[in-house]
Amino acid sequence: MDVFKIQGGQRLTGKISVDGSKNAALPLLAASLLTSEPIHFTCMPHLSDITNMSKLLAELGCKVEQQSTNEITLQVTDESTSHARYDIVRTMRASVCVLGPLLARRGKVRVSMPGGCAFGDRPIDLHLRGLEALGATIELDGGDIIARADKLIGATIFLGGPFGSTVLGTANVMSAATLAKGRTIIESAACEPEIADLALLLNNMGAKISGAGTPRIIIEGVEQLGGASHTVMPDRIVAGTWAIAAAMTNGDVTIERFPLDHLLAVTNILSTVGVHVKQIDPSENPRTCAVQIVSDRHLKPVMFTTQPYPGFPTDLQAQMMALLCLSRGNSIITEKIYPERFMHVPELSRMGAKLVRQGATVIVQGVDHLVGAPVMASDLRASASLVLAGLAAEGETTISRVYHLDRGYAAMEKTLASLGAKIERVDGSTIVDGLPLVETVSSQKIVQSDC
Ligand code: EPZ
Repeated sequence: MDVFKIQGGQRLTGKISVDGSKNAALPLLAASLLTSEPIHFTCMPHLSDITNMSKLLAELGCKVEQQSTNEITLQVTDESTSHARYDIVRTMRASVCVLGPLLARRGKVRVSMPGGCAFGDRPIDLHLRGLEALGATIELDGGDIIARADKLIGATIFLGGPFGSTVLGTANVMSAATLAKGRTIIESAACEPEIADLALLLNNMGAKISGAGTPRIIIEGVEQLGGASHTVMPDRIVAGTWAIAAAMTNGDVTIERFPLDHLLAVTNILSTVGVHVKQIDPSENPRTCAVQIVSDRHLKPVMFTTQPYPGFPTDLQAQMMALLCLSRGNSIITEKIYPERFMHVPELSRMGAKLVRQGATVIVQGVDHLVGAPVMASDLRASASLVLAGLAAEGETTISRVYHLDRGYAAMEKTLASLGAKIERVDGSTIVDGLPLVETVSSQKIVQSDC
């Protein structure tokens, strides 16, 4: 397994661009199951999760053609099977987003019940409640969910749960309702931008969806959907991660295709801390604009709580915690979406961070500096926070199990190296004389995709 070796203390400077959003792309790819016509995507991020989703869709009868690194076309050619197998679903929980499209299009679907993940339980009771409301029968057999429906019927569905709404649950129910008979109203729908991006594709395929991005979505069912082309929206979590990386090193970085409009809760906290996100050209679309990131020499503490969109995103909690480890004072972070999402806390502590956890809250006592150490990646965003800490730490940090990072960050080490970071991906399988063979990633100019 590969590891990252980071020599901390390098100030990040230069220009990068944000790739397409993983969390938009996964339900977008699943939407190709709703039609027999081709769906063409540009700005598709080049990630292991996308590769895995493509493999799953190929098993479900989709022809997958990759035109270039960030361009892909899918077309269903065989609708005979509707079984999403455990060995794929267990590696990527988001596979569950094939549930709604398969049920609506093929009338029957068998999907392995996704297990938990590094930061706790990941239930799908709200997904199932929504699909049952549309008239599906749901049963559990050998760890698989089997859903059936001759014809889905529109209904009014409340999709709120104890932790707010459900993003992929909203995607599943909204996708299924496009082919239901009559009107569906989803109350307490997820408002995340990724849902609006999915509704944009579905409407371009012929669906009739209104209100996506608000808590109430209305879908008028249609007989069938056709092909479309779609550009995947920029990844707001990756964008936020790069902004924090720049701030961690007191750098000066320009980030293109930055979804400023989707990160207002984050830039609000960053400005309180002393990190300035400046839109370079005010006339640019704030959803894909260029911004400059600079920060004050001394960072201030802050208090924040993760919330459903438009609140502070749980997927940037770990990265913001890494930044606050270097602020002057005590910060308080409360995790309201996944109360166990703190795999990064013990690892950051190994680097000298002063963190005290009380249930779903962590008190961060700012320190003057972090110290490099061997640490272990666990879940995707916790791993990103360790990379950020390594960039700022004194000395060398090695991060093992970087395959977690490859799920959500395309060649993270190359992007950071292009900004001057001293980071290398070490092939863990080639150990010579007890030392890993080092593949140095020079700060070569990398060709960022134009999306
Ligand atoms: C999406 O997961 C994202 N993944 C997650 O990003 C993100 O953390 C999460 O939304 C919250 O924003 C993708 O989009 C692929 P939820 P999702 O259903 O849809 C509870 C990353 O790092 N819940 O919105 O699976 C659940 O336990 C990943 O990129 C139920 O109770 O999350 C959680 O507390 C990690 N019942 C809350 O709702 C359900 O049926 C939000 O979960 C479903 C969810």
